[in-house]
Amino acid sequence: MLSREDNDLITRVGPGTPMGLVMRSYWLPLLLSEELPEADGRPLRVRVLGEDLIAFRDSQGRVGLLEEHCPHRGASLYFGRNEECGLRCVYHGWKFDVEGRITDMPNEPPESTFKDRIRAIAYPCVERNGVIWAYLGDQPEGQRPELPAFEWNLVPASQCYISKRYQECNWVQAYEGGIDSSHVSFLHSRLNPGDFRGSPREQGMKYMAADKFPHYETVETPYGLMVGARRKAEPGYYYWRITQCLLPFYTLLPAYGSDSPVSGHAWVPIDDYNTMVWTITWHPSRDLTEAELNDMRYWSPDQVGSSEGNGRHLPLNMYAPETSEAGSRWKSKLNKHNDYMLDWEVQKTKAFSGIPTIAMQDQAVQESMGPIYDRRREHLGTADLAIIRMRQLWLSAARAMRDRQAVPPGVQAPDTYRVRSASLRLPAEADWVAEATRATSPDADRVYFV
Ligand code: FES
Ligand SMILES: [Fe+2]
Repeated sequence: MLSREDNDLITRVGPGTPMGLVMRSYWLPLLLSEELPEADGRPLRVRVLGEDLIAFRDSQGRVGLLEEHCPHRGASLYFGRNEECGLRCVYHGWKFDVEGRITDMPNEPPESTFKDRIRAIAYPCVERNGVIWAYLGDQPEGQRPELPAFEWNLVPASQCYISKRYQECNWVQAYEGGIDSSHVSFLHSRLNPGDFRGSPREQGMKYMAADKFPHYETVETPYGLMVGARRKAEPGYYYWRITQCLLPFYTLLPAYGSDSPVSGHAWVPIDDYNTMVWTITWHPSRDLTEAELNDMRYWSPDQVGSSEGNGRHLPLNMYAPETSEAGSRWKSKLNKHNDYMLDWEVQKTKAFSGIPTIAMQDQAVQESMGPIYDRRREHLGTADLAIIRMRQLWLSAARAMRDRQAVPPGVQAPDTYRVRSASLRLPAEADWVAEATRATSPDADRVYFV
């Protein structure tokens, strides 16, 4: 349970809010490079942390991110002409470069210095391996942090697949669904245990289906939390799923099987009521195979409730037609207006929820909690320990920001983000923290997944 004040403190991320300032202390994943495919191409509406922005790629390929409204008289720069290293407002022709400088003001006399005294609000962007990162904070160049050293953003593009989906609820309840290991045994499960195909990849899933009361432990780290969910395995052994929770809004999830790709999420607030969910699957040491990619891009009904990569990403044919609204490319055809295409017959006979795909199962339950869940009404149980601990981190970062403008954890430790998830089958007497720390180190000899 959270008081109304604390709930507001962590859920509200607009300009000037404590949690908004916490988020603005980090570089944030903003767009895929492919969303701005060409130099001088059409601009893109972007909404992030409650701010309406216009992204564009200039003649030199640099990414600009400007406040939507022109500083002259407020016309939208979305209609702008993207030409010769700048975006030109179509109302009176003022032109802005990627840093927000006014490079032309054709409706003022040539001798006017007006243009040197005004700037558009512009946020710096950096592009790395197919991801455009933006910094919405107030630190000047030279004092900004480094990009977080996520393995998924450091491996070659051929080793990584990223999809996004637009979710209509507050980022905290979306994130909390991502670290809640206990729901996997229900929401994403199949009714008939025989549906598990028995491949080694699904060994861990069998442990999860057999033990629905995981015991949780957490360890605080420089980047956030390491969460261990312990389930019974064979006599004398436990099955440990090690999830990483990285501030402000990332997760790294354990996979199944020793050569499996790994997945994680970024739950990026569009505003207080909408979230851009990034789903990222990568392999640390090899290219993703065509079969793995197809597993993520396509989906068929007989795979309802599959525990593999399938369905974690929204399949390509489930996206709704794109409009020019910010983020609309990533909206699903399945939504609250059509009950996420829940098939009641499938719910009765095959799968726990009957909603197609893991992604939509998550989205359905998280959106059904309302735009911002009122946490005065909840009743947290022992399975919710990771959520309780993560809220403590968010609250302490937001309070420290509000009371003394403290730099949040992880901002100055970007290298520590190069950590992994793991799943381990350990003897009952083993020290899970030591084993998990070793297995999740970026220098581990291999990837540890059962
Ligand atoms: S409103 Fe943009 S140039 Fe006038
Ligand atoms: Fe889920």
